[in-house]
Amino acid sequence: MKTYRIAAIPADGIGPEVIGAGTAVLEALAARQGDVRYEVTTFDWGSDYYKRHGVMMPEDGLETLRPFDAIYFGAVGAPDVPDHVTLWGLRLPICQGFDQYANVRPTRIIPGVTSPLRDVGTGDLDWVIVRENSEGEYSGSGGRAHRGLPEEVGTEVAIFTRVGVARIMRYAFRLARSRPRKLLTVVTKSNAQRHGMVMWDEIAAEVSREFPDVTWDKMLVDAMTVRMVKDPASLDTIVATNLHADILSDLAGALAGSLGVAPTANIDPERRFPSMFEPIHGSAFDITGKGIANPVATFWTAAQMLDHLGENAAGALLMSAVERVCAEGIVTPDVGGTATTAEVTHAVIEAIGGANLLAPAGHSAA
Ligand code: IPM
Ligand code: MG
Repeated sequence: MKTYRIAAIPADGIGPEVIGAGTAVLEALAARQGDVRYEVTTFDWGSDYYKRHGVMMPEDGLETLRPFDAIYFGAVGAPDVPDHVTLWGLRLPICQGFDQYANVRPTRIIPGVTSPLRDVGTGDLDWVIVRENSEGEYSGSGGRAHRGLPEEVGTEVAIFTRVGVARIMRYAFRLARSRPRKLLTVVTKSNAQRHGMVMWDEIAAEVSREFPDVTWDKMLVDAMTVRMVKDPASLDTIVATNLHADILSDLAGALAGSLGVAPTANIDPERRFPSMFEPIHGSAFDITGKGIANPVATFWTAAQMLDHLGENAAGALLMSAVERVCAEGIVTPDVGGTATTAEVTHAVIEAIGGANLLAPAGHSAA
């Protein structure tokens, strides 16, 4: 019996509801697989913890997480705690402390979910956005001076290093190579930003020589938004800076029909540390506690986690189950359905147990 140790951090808003659903689905998968266990340990870190202790997680939080095989994360953000506190107190210290430099965001149109793009078929939008996750605009470098005075200054410095850019570029080329179309688009803003972004372009050209079988092109980020809307089928794997990919992945989620289904993986490709898997949607206070949060993003990121752990057949089985349930119209209100979180979860669990859903049918997580 193989046991995977998973640290769950449900945190804020709908985080506990969707991670609860995800944990139930992992149990169903383990029962179906028969020879593995997903042993989930839950940590109560987040905004409530902050209100009690003045910190989002204990000082030795990273040491506590380190021995786990993976981290299953819900969402951070609370109406009464500043966003930069929740973010810099929990999620970013984990991403940066564990050097999870590759943030991987698959997007495709799930059967049963309608894209706002007219005339776009399910297969016409099948992307993976690779977001640089350790530096760039999220380096935290900068400062404020002369606070509150008329001459106040604030700087927000984007840091790009050769090591940081080369490693994300290699990751993206490798991922593009592993997908059928072997197609990569490198996104920058090297017309206006003439230092770090020009370095990105140069490093992309250098790294591309190691991947002669991958076709690649370059886009400026503003033009990229137009291409995503007008010609989605021309894209496959996409690599961009931390901030550019943050913005493009919201657009991607919206074009695929809902941010409620969009997952993300924060990966340490060298596997020195546990990687972290989460839905993109955030804490969503407006629907917290109503039992209608869409659990699909949390299931999809569980499939990414299973792939990362080497349980690819289980990941594929989970995605087949999710796609079948969505295709049957068992979806939450954010994607036009009437089902509750619990109903979607039960349907997915049933589909996992169903004898007619045999792995490794269907898609892999990325
Ligand atoms: C995301 C989110 C976060 C980010 C927010 C919550 C800070 O938008 O995961 O895309 O910008 O990284
Ligand atoms: Mg975002």
